[in-house]
Amino acid sequence: MTTSKPLFVYLQRPDNGEWVTVGRYRFDETLRTGLFRYAPSYAEAGLAWSIDPVNLPFRIDHDWGAPRYRGLHDALRDACPDAWGRALLRRQHHLPDEAADWRFLEASSNAERWGALAVGRTPKASVAHIASPRLPQLAVLAQELVALSQHAPPVDAKLRQRLVATPSMGGARPKATIRDGHDYWLVKPYLPSDLANIPLLEHVAQTWGRLAGLNCAHTIYHPIGSGLGAVRVRRFDRQGERRLMTLSGATLLQTEYPGQTAAAQWSYPRLAEELRMIGAPDQDRIELFGRMVFNAVCGNDDDHPRNHAVVFQPQENRWRLSPAFDVVPNPDADLLPVLSMQVSIGRTDICRDAVLADAVRFGFDNREAASAFLDNLLHKIEHSFVTAAHELTEALRELMAVRMRRNLDRLRA
Ligand SMILES: Nc1ncnc2c1ncn2[C@@H]1O[C@H](COP(=O)(O)OP(=O)(O)OP(=O)(O)O)[C@@H](O)[C@H]1O
Ligand SMILES: [Mg+2]
Repeated sequence: MTTSKPLFVYLQRPDNGEWVTVGRYRFDETLRTGLFRYAPSYAEAGLAWSIDPVNLPFRIDHDWGAPRYRGLHDALRDACPDAWGRALLRRQHHLPDEAADWRFLEASSNAERWGALAVGRTPKASVAHIASPRLPQLAVLAQELVALSQHAPPVDAKLRQRLVATPSMGGARPKATIRDGHDYWLVKPYLPSDLANIPLLEHVAQTWGRLAGLNCAHTIYHPIGSGLGAVRVRRFDRQGERRLMTLSGATLLQTEYPGQTAAAQWSYPRLAEELRMIGAPDQDRIELFGRMVFNAVCGNDDDHPRNHAVVFQPQENRWRLSPAFDVVPNPDADLLPVLSMQVSIGRTDICRDAVLADAVRFGFDNREAASAFLDNLLHKIEHSFVTAAHELTEALRELMAVRMRRNLDRLRA
């Protein structure tokens, strides 16, 4: 049997923040898949947190195969960069276009990696600390990200070096992490190729959702000058230096993203059931229902499974739905009234009947209870729009107002 050298997987313990080796990954060339095994030392120390309760339950002396991502386990794939980070890593490490997912896990830095997992070649956990840029650097960081995305020369050579050395966060858009006091934030700049001010739309939508009573990640929009700007979003997988375990909705739904599209697994009610299975409280399923409705009203049709997540809350010792992130209304005025994920079995269309059809799977007692919740939420969404949208340009505000009214009609009819 030929296998790759083992890649050790480290976990920052949710209880005391110590780094431990939780397992090891290796790619088996004969079986053409990756194998993950929990470390005997982890079990011997009496530790038993599963890094993925759906796909990798804690079990000793067992090699778990990886049915997706060309042999990389879902939880490890979640700790890898996506399109943006991979593009940087390809340039930096001369990785071919068709490089396997696990190569990106190996090549990406632990410094800003999502969640509480890290990887390394030594059996003993070792995770180097690299300081993140600080808030006063936000403007130059945003400019550097834009320059990088355009293959332009560096604005600040040192910062450029830092950015290309540490990409590990997911997503397609250029982004980097910044520190402000105790908190870590993701910074996403406006790009010259954007058809509208996407970061501002993200900030407005997240604010709007919060005003309507949803748990949306905190955002701040920074104008940078000459029409440029960036949004920063507080990272929910960090509490100071502590990293919290996370998993994507794609992992919970056992689907690939990117990769599979419009799969039957892409479903809000199914995700709600997965939340229940992993021990999240009932209120998280109702919150998910609320987000589905909000995405429908505001026109965030990029609500794919990797744009949902759960986070292990150490204080509660259980998995919770993470705050909402990447909620961005599509600026296309001719947007179709559909979401990426099914709102009920077989349906992605935005209308009252489709949204309520599977409501009990979100934990409502019956359809009447869900109807009352829906009407109350639509009222709050409608009434918080004006406050949230005041930062938009007049044209975008009008586009959003028209869309909101249309979708409210669909959901009230
Ligand atoms: N507030 C946050 N806290 C922690 N992690 C986050 C937060 N926001 C996003 N992430 C993580 O970073 C990834 C990329 O962020 P985001 O989805 O905002 O970027 P994007 O490039 O716009 O994504 P997409 O490819 O969906 O357009 C997410 O998939 C998620 O794993
Ligand atoms: Mg995203």
